[in-house]
Amino acid sequence: MSLHNKRILLIISGGIAAYKALELIRLIRKSGGSVTAVMTKSAHEFVTPLSVAALSENKVYDELFNLTDEAEMGHISLSRENDIILVMPATANILAKMAHGIADDLPTTLLLATDSPVMVAPSMNVRMWEHPATQTNMQILQDNGVKIVGPDEGDMACGEFGFGRLAEPVDILTALNDYFSKGKILAGKHVLITAGPTHEPIDPVRFIGNLSSGKQGYALAAAARDAGAKVTLITGPSNQELPIGVTTIKIQTADQMLAAVSNALPADIAIFAAAVADWKVAKYSDKKIKKQAGIDDKTLSFIENPDILKTTSNLTKDRPQIVVGFAAETNDVLQNAQAKIKRKGCDLMVVNDVSPQTGIMGGDYNQVSIINKNNQNIVQLERASKAEIATQIIKYIGEL
Ligand code: C5P
Repeated sequence: MSLHNKRILLIISGGIAAYKALELIRLIRKSGGSVTAVMTKSAHEFVTPLSVAALSENKVYDELFNLTDEAEMGHISLSRENDIILVMPATANILAKMAHGIADDLPTTLLLATDSPVMVAPSMNVRMWEHPATQTNMQILQDNGVKIVGPDEGDMACGEFGFGRLAEPVDILTALNDYFSKGKILAGKHVLITAGPTHEPIDPVRFIGNLSSGKQGYALAAAARDAGAKVTLITGPSNQELPIGVTTIKIQTADQMLAAVSNALPADIAIFAAAVADWKVAKYSDKKIKKQAGIDDKTLSFIENPDILKTTSNLTKDRPQIVVGFAAETNDVLQNAQAKIKRKGCDLMVVNDVSPQTGIMGGDYNQVSIINKNNQNIVQLERASKAEIATQIIKYIGEL
C-alpha cells in the first residue's frame, strides 16, 4: 500500500474536529502506515487518549516533562523518528505557535525540534481562518516548507458557513499519499482503469453479465496509485473493497462505462481491464417479463455494445499516450491477442488464458503475457497473485 511502512507522528490539537483524527488513524493504518499520536492539553477535551491509543495501537504522548517518557524516548527522538509530522486538526493557536517558534508544551516542542517534513490540516471558525493574523501565519508556515491540506468550505460546528472546516480524513490520507509518491515512476500521471463485469439489463430484475470479479482491475488501480499516479477506476458491479486514494466511479452497463471513461479523460494512460459485455438486449422491458404459458418464443434479441477500448484507442482528441487492452482467451491465446491489438488500435495487450482449468477468472492468481502493437518483445510474466501481476504491469507501462 501507498503508506506502507510510513511512520506518521500525529499531533492532535484541541478543535471540535479532533474526533476525526480517529478515522484518519484507521485509514492510515489500513493503508499500511503506523501512527504515534501526541495530544495537546486541550485535545483531551475533545477526544480521549484511550481511543487514540486503541486505534493507533501505540502509546499516546502528551506531557513534555514526563521522565519515564524521556527515558524511553526523549522528545528529540520522538520528533525525528518518523517520516512526517501531521498536525490534525491544527487550530489557529497551534499554527500561530508553529509560525513563531513557540515551544511551550510537548507538541510544539516536537514541531520546533524536528527535521521531518510537516503537514498541517487547519480547522477553525471561518473568522479565525480569515483573520489577518492567521493568514500571515499560514504564509510563514508555507514559506517554511510546511505542507497544508484544506481547510474546506462548509458548515461549521458553530453554525457559521465558510472556509475553516477540517479537510476530510480521506483527503488528508490522499495528501499524505501524494507526498510519499513524489519521485515515483507514475508521479503526476493520470491513469484511467476499467474493471469488473458490466450488467446489461433485460428487465427490472434480470441482466446479462459475466464471471469477472474485478480483482485484476482493482489491483491495477492500487498498483498505479502506489506508483504515484492519480487514478480513476471505473468499475462494473464487483464485491472488491474499493481502493483508498483512488477516484472510483461505479457503473452498471457498457454504455455507462463508455460515458464515464469519456468524462474522466484526459488521461496519460488508460487500462481496460473490464470484462465488458459484448451485447445488450435490443429492447429493454421496463416491466418484468412474465413466464407465459404457451409462448414458444424464448428468444432475446441483442445489439452490440460500444467497444470502449477501440473507441478510446481511436480518439483523435484526448487519446491517452498509452492505451492498454486485455485479452481473455480460451484458445489460440497469443494469435488471437495479436489480431486483437490491431483490430482495437491499442498500444499494449495483456493476454491471459481464462480456460476454466486455469482458475484465473474470479481467482486470486493470474498468468499473463504483455504484447505491444509491433508484436515484438512478448513479455511472459510468471504466474503470480493478481496484486503482484498488477505491480509488474504498472512497472512495464511506467518504464515505457
Ligand atoms: O473484444 P474483447 O472483448 O475480447 O476485448 C477485450 C478488451 O477490450 C478488454 O480490454 C476490454 O476491457 C475491452 N472491451 C471494451 N469494450 C467492449 C468490449 C471489450 O473496452 N465493449
